[in-house]
Amino acid sequence: MFSERRKFLQALAGGLPASWLAFQNKLAGAPPTSEDDWKTVKRQFPLADGLTYLNAANVCPASRPVLDRHFEYLRDFHADPSFQNREKYDKLQESLRRKLARLLGADPAEIAIVRNTSEGSNIIVQGLDLKEGDEILITSHNHPSSNHSWKVRAKRDRLVVREASVPVPARSQQQLIDSLASKITRKTRVLAVTHVTNTTGNKYPLEEIAQIAQKHGIWLHVDGAQSLGALEVNLHKIGCDSYAGSAHKWLMGPLENGVLYVRKEKLDRLWPLIVTAGWEQNPQDARKLEVFGQRDNPRLVAFEAAVDFLNFLGMARVEARLRTLVTHLKQKLAANPAVVLRSSMDWDLSGGVVKFTVRGVPTDQLYQELYAKHRIASARTLSGEAEGIRYSPHIYNTLEEMDYAADVLRSRPGA
Ligand SMILES: Cc1ncc(COP(=O)(O)O)c(C=O)c1O
Repeated sequence: MFSERRKFLQALAGGLPASWLAFQNKLAGAPPTSEDDWKTVKRQFPLADGLTYLNAANVCPASRPVLDRHFEYLRDFHADPSFQNREKYDKLQESLRRKLARLLGADPAEIAIVRNTSEGSNIIVQGLDLKEGDEILITSHNHPSSNHSWKVRAKRDRLVVREASVPVPARSQQQLIDSLASKITRKTRVLAVTHVTNTTGNKYPLEEIAQIAQKHGIWLHVDGAQSLGALEVNLHKIGCDSYAGSAHKWLMGPLENGVLYVRKEKLDRLWPLIVTAGWEQNPQDARKLEVFGQRDNPRLVAFEAAVDFLNFLGMARVEARLRTLVTHLKQKLAANPAVVLRSSMDWDLSGGVVKFTVRGVPTDQLYQELYAKHRIASARTLSGEAEGIRYSPHIYNTLEEMDYAADVLRSRPGA
């Protein structure tokens, strides 16, 4: 941890703003533990004063070091777009790949740097050889970037899509496992699950699910949009075949960057979605999946800075902090008799996503009021079993904000 911290400080030394240097001075040698330390972390984010931002599951702000790195390299790129000046970006991209691999417990050759979760999942959906009658098992709470794309592929190639229902909220890990295992047939070729759902925050026990998939020779694809940067993730330990995530969510990186992991032994089963110059250089590793023509090089440098920022704090510490915030929030919400929680109180069954309704208050009305009257940015689902307001805090939020977000609901007429 301390060597990561030292490396991060060295990497960022020079040309950085006073705000970052002050942050570094305040926390160097002493990882954030106290509320004051976390407030120092919060000050690294350019969130507007008075805004309680609770929508990490959609998009997170990037920290100042990440934004500064981005601007610095944007200026560099456009000041001198020559091949000579741009040579360094290849090395920086490889450095990012190594750091992502370490963050996720994978090998660099298993990591493709893609543009977001949607693209990563679509590379799997469109890239696997499948034949008429093969079955794809999805869950009813997967994001459309997984479920819609499987349905389109199924229509084109006469595949069969089967859908496992999702308990709201989950009562046990076994219940989640059984909901999938009971739908597997001899024809199931792919199982597509979401690590933590964006709908109600159910967290799937991936290691057990991967063992079942392996036993049946099924490709397990994991949508990691709500776990990358939020939870400690070790993909080799989990044993899935592929995993996709976005940089602009919990990882607090730049927009339109993401990661796709594909297990080494499975890489040769995937056709690339886009083929252009560079594909032939890496036919055996995940780099073949990220050739899209000219990339936005400065943005990739900013992505690296976001991974550095997380490493500096320590992924275990980030997850522990998220757990503290979310548990506090859920306890406050559960203490309000008007609130109906749709997310589990149990951390083993949930992540950073908290979903609830308030009795007697239409969800859309509440959603609008939260922002207009209380400056709370949330998300909402308007109907169905996942209906409700979604609060998704992250490390730039404070315990006071959790109190505020829960307390404003008590001033509602229905509450
Ligand atoms: C579970 C899940 N998967 C995929 C996505 C799509 O992410 P992106 O738009 O970054 O591709 C989202 C977006 O919220 C999500 O919540």
